[in-house]
Amino acid sequence: MASRSDVHEETNGSSRPASATGTSWAPGPAGMAVEEDHPDRLQQLARRNLWMHFTRMGAYDDHHAVPVIVRGDGCYVYDEHGKRYLDGLSALYCVNVGHGRAELGEAAARQIEQLGFYTNWSYAHPPAIELAARVAALAPGNLNRVFFTSGGSEAVESAWKLAKAYHRARGDMNRYKLVSRKLAYHGVSMGALTATGLQPLREPFEPLTPGGVHVPNTNSYRWSEDRDPLWAADAIEEAIEFQGPDTVAAVILEPVQNGGGCFTPQDGYFQRVREICDRHGVLLISDEVICSWGRLGHWFGSERYGYQPDIITTAKGISSAYAPLGAVIAGDHIAAPFLHDKESFAHGFTFGGHPVACAIGLANIDIMEREQLNEHVLANEGPFREMLESLRDLPIVGDVRGAGYFHAIELVKDKETKETFDSDESEELLRGFLSGELYRRGLICRTDDRGDPIVQLSPPLIAGPEQFEEIEAVLRPVLTEASERMERWSSPSKA
Ligand SMILES: Cc1ncc(COP(=O)(O)O)c(C=O)c1O
Repeated sequence: MASRSDVHEETNGSSRPASATGTSWAPGPAGMAVEEDHPDRLQQLARRNLWMHFTRMGAYDDHHAVPVIVRGDGCYVYDEHGKRYLDGLSALYCVNVGHGRAELGEAAARQIEQLGFYTNWSYAHPPAIELAARVAALAPGNLNRVFFTSGGSEAVESAWKLAKAYHRARGDMNRYKLVSRKLAYHGVSMGALTATGLQPLREPFEPLTPGGVHVPNTNSYRWSEDRDPLWAADAIEEAIEFQGPDTVAAVILEPVQNGGGCFTPQDGYFQRVREICDRHGVLLISDEVICSWGRLGHWFGSERYGYQPDIITTAKGISSAYAPLGAVIAGDHIAAPFLHDKESFAHGFTFGGHPVACAIGLANIDIMEREQLNEHVLANEGPFREMLESLRDLPIVGDVRGAGYFHAIELVKDKETKETFDSDESEELLRGFLSGELYRRGLICRTDDRGDPIVQLSPPLIAGPEQFEEIEAVLRPVLTEASERMERWSSPSKA
């Protein structure tokens, strides 16, 4: 049976509710309507002027409102009508310490009063210096050099350029290729997009940056049982050998792969990849844009799986998304060729290491340490997982996978055979029903079919049993109904 993972079908990268259904919103509870802006005005302006990312904007019209989120508090956000939603996705895997943290605003205000902006091009300023030192102290092994960016795509783009520049600086002039995994999402700028393994995101923008090489991911749910558990790691070596090792600059992998739905590594996977990279002089980049800052219960996802990358890319949770911030964290050996004589890494962004973003980053780490959020995730990931596992009795739930506060449920047409939904069915399931219905019932999570259809959860790190219960109270009836609807949709005669 062909898996959609193999053919990389995708109709849209969007996770947004109305991109699926054009759901019309119930009015907010009495007395809780939005105070200043009349909602209709915001709706009209949103439809007229705002270009939403990865969104089918044609889905919004007079009957189908744009979801407008106006306020956040802890694990919850509120729309323009005052309706409350459990933010089961931390916005986009990023508001790790939860919403409404006034102290992050205070840190920003203090920094703006002191120095609103200065650059990291030939200059330094205290927040960038302090945050670089703090990140280096938390990062594994010798990852002591921090190059700030404004987000994840910039971090990935920069890491690939750094890998190429590193090899050239050492006289290894031909290493430019980047190996990444199928279905993985590494961002959208041209270099990062080349690493991204999602064909529908790549195809409209081809030709991409030369040098992208894609290998299998670790989705063992779709493997035959007799497959060697480390075959996906070995496939990386095959690809490097096929390409010619002296042309390959780096391998980039997420600790847990987001695209396709939270694919965890097999035991020993990263250790095998590390050996392969070392054998061929290839750098290992750990793309932890999602999987750092407590998402997996550790500062960095590579710690959880016990491997040492040459470079980590991060963003999102580094500031809990209260300001745009990302970073490339490089090992001392990677930085060494650029630290003497007239050498430099000829690369930079105006806003990389913005002082306000760095001040927020420092305050964000303070919160994580004070509230022991890594420990909280490790203590609560079990109950979170158990809640999701309990949904396996539903006919539509094929697999539950992930780690920490980063999990996916794969939806299947037939549990026994693992038969997946075809494109039309998936469109009907996700956009015709699930995403709108989950949102209508007050749960924000991601429904996605960049591989096989999944529902994905990535709650703020402060979430606990109360939120897990709420998630189940929405998921169970909605997935039950989804199952029944798909049965009817696929076999209309039974309706
Ligand atoms: C692993 C990974 N890398 C890179 C990116 C791109 O980050 P950004 O959207 O901040 O550019 C993402 C975004 O989700 C990501 O998950």
